[in-house]
Amino acid sequence: MRIVIHASAAAASRGLADFLARSLRRTPALVLGLPTGRTPIGLYADLVHLSRQGRADFSRAMTFNLDEFVGLGARDPRSYHAFMRRNLFDHVNVASSRLQFLNGRARSWRREAARYERLIAAAGGLDLVILGIGDNGHLGFNEPASSLEPHTHCAVLRPRTRRANAWLFGGDWRRVPRRALSMGIGTILSARGVVLLATGSAKAAIVRRAIAGPVTTRVPASLLQLHPNVVVVLDRHAAARLSRRRRRAAP
Ligand code: GLP
Repeated sequence: MRIVIHASAAAASRGLADFLARSLRRTPALVLGLPTGRTPIGLYADLVHLSRQGRADFSRAMTFNLDEFVGLGARDPRSYHAFMRRNLFDHVNVASSRLQFLNGRARSWRREAARYERLIAAAGGLDLVILGIGDNGHLGFNEPASSLEPHTHCAVLRPRTRRANAWLFGGDWRRVPRRALSMGIGTILSARGVVLLATGSAKAAIVRRAIAGPVTTRVPASLLQLHPNVVVVLDRHAAARLSRRRRRAAP
């Protein structure tokens, strides 16, 4: 794993936005996996800025969002779909037909999951997936468990994860759906490149477990240690619990 530590969350977002803009210049038809959460909001704002300056071109890119709450449609402002439009897609030059989402209102989640996997395969697989990390180590909505789902599936959310998402639901975690559709851990690990973005001291403990702890399904993010092409982008607060050796090795 390559670890990059920035002085602040703002610098981490800017650094990653620049990296993505460069990747889009090199590979205009980039196939991206994208996360939601509070962490990537700054990244998306920076990408909008770069796009307005003509330095990030999404016109040929294709995107697949990682996850969606069961029961919420695209028009529901609490959905991840609406979050993505608000924070990124409404403000950059990308055609709607190139944006893929899991449909939280699909009648059969099995069929919806199979459709998503087929679409990812038809796109030639994910070139790059950007990830946040839940404070229990979840990726997308792959929650800690004795075994993990390889493919896109319907996940049961832990109360802790529902609390972490309460900000989208007026602060009331009981309104957060109990289930969500999510790419599987195998879907994520089959991306050709992975970037994990984590900022803030609240993530320091789980970042350490993910990067330096044992590889275990109890910390889904630790499985990234098995991937050959992972960059971990941190601010100094999220990196605070890494050993000095690891922090020193980071550029
Ligand atoms: C949600 C998402 C995850 C995300 C996590 C962290 O649970 N499903 O993909 O990584 O939140 O969110 P935040 O960035 O707000 O800490």
